[in-house]
Amino acid sequence: MVLTSSKEDPSFPVPSRLLGADAEVKDDNPKGYPRPTPHITSTDEYLTLWKESITQPDVFWSRMAKDLLSWSKPFTQTLAGTLDEGNVRWFADGELNACYNCVDRHALEDPSRVALIYEPDEPNATQRITYGELLADVCRLANVLTIDYGLRRGDTVAIYLPMIPAAVIAMLACARIGCPHTVIFAGFSAGSVADRIHDARSRVLITSNEGRRAGKVIPLKAIADTALESCPTVEHVLVYERSPVPDPLPAGVMTAGRDEFWSTALPRHRPYCPPVPMSAEDPLFLLYTSGSTGLPKGVLHTTGGYLLGAASTVKYVFDVHPGDRFGCTADVGWITGHTYIVYGPLSLGIATTLLESVPTYPTPARYWQLVEEAKLTHFYTAPTAIRSLIRLGEHWPFNSDLSSLRVLGSVGEPINPEAWYWYNDKVGREQCAIVDTYWQTETGSIIISPLPGVTHTKPGSATLPLWGIDVAVLDPQTGAELQGRDVTGVLAIRQPWPSMARSVWKDHARYLSTYLKPYPSYYFTGDGVSRDRDGYYWIRGRVDDVINVSGHRLSTSEIEAALNQHDHVAESAAVGTSDPVTGQCIFAFVTLKDDDVTEQPMAIEVKDLALKVRTMIGPFATPKCILIVQELPKTRSGKIVRRVLRKIVDGEADSLGDLSTVANPEIVPELIKVVGVSDPRKK
Ligand code: WTA
Repeated sequence: MVLTSSKEDPSFPVPSRLLGADAEVKDDNPKGYPRPTPHITSTDEYLTLWKESITQPDVFWSRMAKDLLSWSKPFTQTLAGTLDEGNVRWFADGELNACYNCVDRHALEDPSRVALIYEPDEPNATQRITYGELLADVCRLANVLTIDYGLRRGDTVAIYLPMIPAAVIAMLACARIGCPHTVIFAGFSAGSVADRIHDARSRVLITSNEGRRAGKVIPLKAIADTALESCPTVEHVLVYERSPVPDPLPAGVMTAGRDEFWSTALPRHRPYCPPVPMSAEDPLFLLYTSGSTGLPKGVLHTTGGYLLGAASTVKYVFDVHPGDRFGCTADVGWITGHTYIVYGPLSLGIATTLLESVPTYPTPARYWQLVEEAKLTHFYTAPTAIRSLIRLGEHWPFNSDLSSLRVLGSVGEPINPEAWYWYNDKVGREQCAIVDTYWQTETGSIIISPLPGVTHTKPGSATLPLWGIDVAVLDPQTGAELQGRDVTGVLAIRQPWPSMARSVWKDHARYLSTYLKPYPSYYFTGDGVSRDRDGYYWIRGRVDDVINVSGHRLSTSEIEAALNQHDHVAESAAVGTSDPVTGQCIFAFVTLKDDDVTEQPMAIEVKDLALKVRTMIGPFATPKCILIVQELPKTRSGKIVRRVLRKIVDGEADSLGDLSTVANPEIVPELIKVVGVSDPRKK
């Protein structure tokens, strides 16, 4: 990998720009915002460090681990194990506690420093929580979990909470006592909640009476109660009161002996609880994510390596300095929330933001008012949010003072140039660095990204690999490495890095078969990629059956399984296709059981089918379009040929390719016609 030589300017920030474009570096600084010298100041420095991280990973990472984390027992080992064997471990004889690293050490230094900026759904009600306050509540909760609920190190705790401080407190309390948490996105419905709790065998569930989103109430406890009907492992349910609880409480809201309120439980305990020293390789959390097949898998992250990935990427990718205020709009239920709301910013002792609302509530200025009110230095969001805001009008960012911002991040899918320029020009006012960060639940932290003030960016490219990421582009068929420039293949990584997932919960064989066996000796990302003439990486999207809708990862088989639950459905096929706002959207094709194909049942059926997906998975998984068809294209052995459906919804019906394997090609013109008249994207 070689970088093109470019004019380097150590002053911060260098406006992000097209590689080679010689735009003027503006440095007006109207508010006198202090601009620190970046941690990395030149491409040479980046390259030197990157090379060291690849050729001497032990030296590089042991220096980083000592520099960024506090260890209760220093490690003497660094990397052990190999990708081939699937037994990777880092710093295995070292001990540390993730909560101590994220809370205590900063509270000890200055308990009055702001840790959380909580922006509730209701506007103009921002709250700040200091490291001292955070420590006290985390400890009280840790005492509830151990003393009252009898949790022991290794027991898992399920967390089903909206974007409120209690979610962060709950995650950190679990980390403090060595109980892996599994956070379940608050948009999931009862069936999905139950699947996850069941698989994780959680003994405790932490939830809230309600959630609030754009003024709407989400009855989280009621959903959790439905889920718990099929989760016998759960002995205790702790309920945070997000909104006032009726007095007297109606019967049946709380189950006696199992449920209690947060405000009853926490005050029972003193605001201190010693952190449990954990092995660097002890599990920190599991996070369920969709794969190509079967039920979602519990991706397992461990303590030391994960925390190091989180801390080092916040430090270098976002060029964070003491006193910064980080704003990430992801949900704590996804990996971006774990790493860039909780563990990354807090491990570095800066302030982090929890935004409970949506970008358009009460107006499309919500994000920008938050930036102004909290004086955020960093803003990290998804292209889908940017695109939906662009549609609502150019002017919304103009009424807020955004001069505190230094770095703008993007994650979840490739950022299209239109969104990139809007972000850069209208939000960043050409004064900010834009970092298009590529990574996955399984990588734990960002693995390909520009560095602010250093990497000259190209809109749409995540640019260059980070420390320890040894990228390979492989021929998808042969697995051979495609050397040199101007190549396209699948993205794989040659050597282990600290924050990589270590396993799939209770299913190590699935971990091996999904990530390490497809291309032996490599970690396989599941993404297509191109390396351009400058050595820059362009992510081309998933090559498996994973669909990415507004940054929510779903598998076609999950959606099909939900549709197939409907009494009248014979078969279904879901495919992902591009969408101007959500990146991708879902088209589902359904055939009905024989007796049901009458002349006019369509409208009712489609609504019912959509409802099935909403209730089985969650509203965010609802297909954009569900089409009831007479037949699906199949091979002679009866396998659905999704490739044909994908081409049709992609508008490539004139290049369907070889149809010789399709046993019923006569249905194809009908499918093309149905998609043509029903495609909601054309309306
Ligand atoms: C996609 C989210 C292009 C990719 C952190 C990956 C991206 C999947 C980018 C992981 C990016 C994420 N450019 N594609 N900057 N970031 N992706 O596990 O397909 O929810 O495999 O993690 O999102 O989604 P996940």
